[in-house]
Amino acid sequence: MRKINISFQLEERAKAELSDADKLLVESAEKFLSHAYAPYSKFSVSAAALLDNGIVVNGTNQENAASPSGLCAERTAVFFANSQYPECKVTTIAISAFFQGEIIANPITPCGSCRQVLLETENRQKSPIRVILAGKDNCFIINSIKDILPLNFDSTFFE
Ligand code: THU
Repeated sequence: MRKINISFQLEERAKAELSDADKLLVESAEKFLSHAYAPYSKFSVSAAALLDNGIVVNGTNQENAASPSGLCAERTAVFFANSQYPECKVTTIAISAFFQGEIIANPITPCGSCRQVLLETENRQKSPIRVILAGKDNCFIINSIKDILPLNFDSTFFE
């Protein structure tokens, strides 16, 4: 028997300590929070994806009375980016959330399905996606979605 330890490091930064480019991306995510359609959960999420051509693609959560038909902000953004600019890579994605009148205190963490879709995007474009998880005053910065989806499943299992 052996035990395997899996760990990763993330960077925590106050918003004021972000680079200008990262600050702009977080601000872009925050700006689009009002575009979320979240009448059921009242939890608005917004994602801003920076592409390697410099364009920022935004997505917000879009809910539905038939709840499985809705979609999270991260997948809305990434599916739109892959549809509109299939030749471009997503270099960084910033995610922000708003609940009960304010941006949530702790950085938002993506759901498992969004991690899986971001992983497929990394594999497809053959380069990692930096992930900025934004809270009210601070952010977590992660260098690759793989860091937050250890032991992940991808197409190599059936290649
Ligand atoms: N949601 C996202 O858009 N992204 C996440 O990372 C977590 C959850 C949405 C889904 C649903 O519309 C609402 O937040 C509450 O779960």
